[in-house]
Amino acid sequence: MKTIDELLADGVSGKRVFVRADLNVPLADGTITDDGRIRAVLPTVKALADAGAKVVVASHLGRPKGAPDLAFSLLPAAERLGELLGAPVAFAQDTVGPAAHDAVDGLQPGQVAVIENLRFNPGETSKDDTERGEFADRLAALADVYVGDGFGAVHRKHASVYDLPARLPHYAGYLIATEVGVLKKLTQDVKRPYVVALGGAKVSDKLAVIDQLLGKADRLLIGGGMAYTFLKAKGYEVGISLLQEDQVPAVKEYMERAEKQGVELLLPVDVVVSRTFPDLKTKAPTENTVVDADKIPADQEGLDIGPKTRELYASKLADAETVFWNGPMGVFEHPDYAEGTKAVAQALVDTDGFTVVGGGDSAAAVRTLGFDENAFGHISTGGGASLEYLEGKTLPGLAALED
Ligand code: 3PG
Repeated sequence: MKTIDELLADGVSGKRVFVRADLNVPLADGTITDDGRIRAVLPTVKALADAGAKVVVASHLGRPKGAPDLAFSLLPAAERLGELLGAPVAFAQDTVGPAAHDAVDGLQPGQVAVIENLRFNPGETSKDDTERGEFADRLAALADVYVGDGFGAVHRKHASVYDLPARLPHYAGYLIATEVGVLKKLTQDVKRPYVVALGGAKVSDKLAVIDQLLGKADRLLIGGGMAYTFLKAKGYEVGISLLQEDQVPAVKEYMERAEKQGVELLLPVDVVVSRTFPDLKTKAPTENTVVDADKIPADQEGLDIGPKTRELYASKLADAETVFWNGPMGVFEHPDYAEGTKAVAQALVDTDGFTVVGGGDSAAAVRTLGFDENAFGHISTGGGASLEYLEGKTLPGLAALED
């Protein structure tokens, strides 16, 4: 994989460089609530601009249905990028149409333009190679060189991620190089104990990674909505908690394998339960109680790990040499159910080992809960991408950058 340093060494002054970033940031009423992904691509954009390139930044945002939908406009992200760069950023209101060409044609060396959400065009996400290829051809007309730096999207076989690099000289940006370097540390010669904390809503999203981790990790700590499928597999009743009944047999099999392979698989021993799901907008106080994990009342749902579990998980993380954490332990967006996620984040801060927070919700959680990003070894920008990397899959966006 050639890196951006090689491109810079060859000289990019006056060249149009297409940077495929992942500016898929969370928005609330048009306001960015976490700009981590924009900050993460700054080193690449700055280095190219400083070297006199004409930088064309592109990304998806959300999941629009292949047509323009202003609720998913990249404009707020483009504006934030301009603020962070301390320089104006041109914004094109289409992706490959006249506005994009005008914006790119208007760039002077060292200037930056952002084109509109790539997913406003059906060719971006199409399963049809020809349709994707046609869109990639139109994107290729906007640039001389391609820099892949949207780590969060490298697991997607999309036109701008997979097909476009085949059409232009291509390089990996600083973010992708960093992310891959960190994930390699979790797969090759891992320092032990290697402890993995997994949370989030759906166990089905995590089965493949658990499968891989059973052969690698020393301890697996389970929390979040997915824990209730594990508790059910253990024979407990889980009331009205989130449950994927169809996954119970697979989870049982994993629990048996963990035991055979000597992997400590830990489940919550107590949980915070409530009769109703909290209002995440008003964050109004809720009625809740802590119960042992085998005593969840039939009419209540578990929304966070309880205090005994927090202590247990913190003790299992304390001596870790390597930690990977993906997925919140509870409904951290509401203060009544944020303590479990806070406790795991704090345990990562407290350990001397190398800690990696794996993207998506857990990355947003550590920032919104007020933790200092620098207290972690690495906060990945890719949730699905980092999980698929750890699953050992070939990621289209990384494969496309290999030569
Ligand atoms: C993410 O948020 O994980 C990435 O931006 C990829 O988004 P996607 O899951 O909509 O492809």
